[in-house]
Amino acid sequence: MADPVMLITGASRGIGAATARQAVAAGYRVALVARSTDKLTPLVDDLGSASALPLACDVADWDDVSGAVRRTEEHFGGLDAVFANAGLSVPTSFLGTDGADPAQWRDMVLTNVLGAALTARAALPSLARSRGHLVLTGSVAGRHVRPGNLYSATKWAVTGMAQNIRAECAETGVRVTLVQPGMVETDMTAHRQDAPKLAATDIANAVMYALRQPQGVDVNEIVVRPTGQHL
Ligand SMILES: NC(=O)c1ccc[n+]([C@@H]2O[C@H](COP(=O)([O-])OP(=O)(O)OC[C@H]3O[C@@H](n4cnc5c(N)ncnc54)[C@H](OP(=O)(O)O)[C@@H]3O)[C@@H](O)[C@H]2O)c1
Repeated sequence: MADPVMLITGASRGIGAATARQAVAAGYRVALVARSTDKLTPLVDDLGSASALPLACDVADWDDVSGAVRRTEEHFGGLDAVFANAGLSVPTSFLGTDGADPAQWRDMVLTNVLGAALTARAALPSLARSRGHLVLTGSVAGRHVRPGNLYSATKWAVTGMAQNIRAECAETGVRVTLVQPGMVETDMTAHRQDAPKLAATDIANAVMYALRQPQGVDVNEIVVRPTGQHL
């Protein structure tokens, strides 16, 4: 049987890149998505061009995302798993006392919510054919109240989306896993020096755990916090 194929969004660094490395080590061929291929080149060089396909794609753009899925299938001859992981965070306040200018909120909402939805919509027909696996990156911020935090609200949307996708796909053989990380050491959290953090590889471990289960086992949610994180 040919090596399985996984498409990973947000693969140029952080959790996505760590997962790509573990997936290739586990025998996957990977399609790597970020907004430019330049940022993917070092990872593709490490993983080897036989195992890794770089794809420039804005996950908030339907033509980009559907094209990335199509190119993955054409290049590798199939699609077995998709990791909808691309995300952005900007600080916000609804009272207006702190945070980024509202003009900067749009990209975060489009990437985190519409991007995950379009990735699912583009990939699920293929995953239904392969009886494949969709993994989404939510957050513990999508389980708890974070005062003034629109990023948290985007991740609440991903929490609901994962459940709605699973409900629609229940009889297709597609498995759906929502991974909800606590604080992870990546570019996104570089400004947080005060908090305990996981390594990106800790979340990659969780993704690979879900993918390794037998076809009859659908791991729906995995919450991983660094020891010492409260909520
Ligand atoms: N770090 C944490 O503490 C933490 C905790 C919980 C959940 N998460 C979630 O984990 C996921 C990965 O985050 P990370 O911490 O690994 O962050 P990161 O290191 O900043 O990586 C973010 C990735 O998303 C890509 N990306 C951003 N916008 C995109 C778009 N519109 N289209 C395609 N790719 C896009 C970036 O690629 P380019 O910039 O090269 O396009 C990059 O590869 C996100 O969904 C994040 O919300 C992170």
